[in-house]
Amino acid sequence: MCGIIGFIGDLHATGASDGGEGDGETPASVGDIVHEGLRNLEYRGYDSAGVALVGPRSGLTVAKRSGEVDGLTVPDVPDATHGVGHTRWSTHGPPTDANAHPHTDCTGDVAVVHNGIIENYEALKAELADHEFTSATDTEVIPHLIEEALAADPDADLLDAVRRVESRLEGSYAICAVRKGDDRIVVARRGSPIVLGRGESAWFVASDVTAFLEHTRDVTYLEDGDVAELSPDGVQIFADGEPVDREIETVEWEAGAAEKGGYDHYMRKEIHEQPAALRQTIAGRLDVDAGDVDLDVSFPPGFLADLEEIQIVACGTSNYAGRYAAQLFEELSGVRATVEIASEYEFGAGRSPDRTLVVAVTQSGETADTLGAIRRANAAGARTFAVTNTLGSTITREVDGTAFIRAGPEIGVAATKTFASQVATLAMLGVAIGRERGALAPADARSVLEDLRGLPGAVQQVLDNEERVREAAREYGDSEAFFFVGRKLGVPVALEGALKLKEISYDHAEGFAAGELKHGPLALVTPDTPVLALLTDGSRAAETKNNVTEAQTRGAPAIGCVSAGKEYDTLDVSLPVPDVGIAEPLVANVYLQLFAYHVANDKGRSIDKPRNLAKSVTVE
Ligand code: F6R
Repeated sequence: MCGIIGFIGDLHATGASDGGEGDGETPASVGDIVHEGLRNLEYRGYDSAGVALVGPRSGLTVAKRSGEVDGLTVPDVPDATHGVGHTRWSTHGPPTDANAHPHTDCTGDVAVVHNGIIENYEALKAELADHEFTSATDTEVIPHLIEEALAADPDADLLDAVRRVESRLEGSYAICAVRKGDDRIVVARRGSPIVLGRGESAWFVASDVTAFLEHTRDVTYLEDGDVAELSPDGVQIFADGEPVDREIETVEWEAGAAEKGGYDHYMRKEIHEQPAALRQTIAGRLDVDAGDVDLDVSFPPGFLADLEEIQIVACGTSNYAGRYAAQLFEELSGVRATVEIASEYEFGAGRSPDRTLVVAVTQSGETADTLGAIRRANAAGARTFAVTNTLGSTITREVDGTAFIRAGPEIGVAATKTFASQVATLAMLGVAIGRERGALAPADARSVLEDLRGLPGAVQQVLDNEERVREAAREYGDSEAFFFVGRKLGVPVALEGALKLKEISYDHAEGFAAGELKHGPLALVTPDTPVLALLTDGSRAAETKNNVTEAQTRGAPAIGCVSAGKEYDTLDVSLPVPDVGIAEPLVANVYLQLFAYHVANDKGRSIDKPRNLAKSVTVE
């Protein structure tokens, strides 16, 4: 949802070379580093891209255009000392050259990149009636307001101006501003993610650490309301106008973790990373013998014993992970568990806040709808908790407790490995709650933990079967529509399978509770609509198979993910799922990910950057 990058400092200290021939010691230019950062951030939006470079002689040079980052020609500005860049996911104004960031003021001296939405931009624009605007964006008011602030006070510098302007902005923003003749990047944050990268003598600012991970892993996450100044002397952060120290954290992800590593697409790489990601998710957390888990989370004394409801709030794939988990929570903890689409969430009548746990599931930790839901839960006085992949993300600061899924960076816009790691983490949370409440016997807990321990190996077995899925994708990929069905734990996986296929192949795909087929969707079934079914433990395979047969009777081909050792002769394609109990539908999901991938790949789709989408949706 828009990516921002900025760089200032010693080019030699970045270790980046210009890629040209020679002794390899010629450092990359500021433009190269900003351009590279944009490539790393492109998963956040790819409608348009642009840069602003500042140098003592060249002044301010801006280049921007609609289209992907690689289509942007970054100008050669040899004296540039610092610069900012932006890759856009359009909110206000279509993806045109004019609407691309950076945006400038009337003088052309100030340039701003922004992630978020300025809600009061129309009122602010009305005040700036004598300014000429060149775009349809909300962002463009910011450089014009900075221009006004500078004109109103001859003593004001860029930092002062940004401070004054940001106090007038409503909505969410992470902004970086640069100015001709000024040797700083000024950053402000409210509601949108922004992180500073702190090398020895080279400094970065970005929407996400993956933008600069190859240069430094020491980072500071800005807080809402913070303003920061990056200069040749380093970083200074201000809160309420006063300098503040903010913690420097070291990111554990290796730089290479955010690269494709020989795969054609991040998505395929991330599908194949699932065994390793799941190993990280459960590492050191399972005590199978004792039937317990150590998630390093705590609740106030007595809270879990009195718990009446667990409400899960999440969007998209994370919502389906939540739907999987809700069924486990009820079984493991004996507590009613409900799942809400975060954008629809209200705390709801008849509940007691001090007996309700609201769990946000969010890979990015920045999804605006999920943050909105958590804020509503907090306002109602409920205890809140996050399950996320992202250290330092906004959600972690707004909840009472967090469990990290530890899946490593996920760059493909379609979530894959994080779904598996979210479900595994939530299952561990369910065990922790169940054990603490005395609702789960150690022997039953042991069986769940054994299933979890078996997950990485089971997923690997499915990955080893990729060729069969590739063939099925070839055979059925050109069908008119695709239906995914399952029962119980198979339902969220059916929904997730359909979402994955539609978002990357652009084919019509829908997921249903298998029993619902006959209540309406069966009317859509033809010989040209394959049905993909979850026929595993945990998804009521026998009943689901009956529903599949009903579809087959109407001519639909059937592809089934089937528990190892079971056979259904009538299936057109049978994909074996290793025996891992409650985790079987989750393992079967890997087949559905591969199916979506190969259907989309055969069609030449933009798999890592599907049209109209972006990872990390920071607008409501
Ligand atoms: C689909 C997908 C999205 C996200 C959703 C929530 O493949 O990735 O549906 O799951 O936008 O994102 P997070 O988990 O970051 O809150």
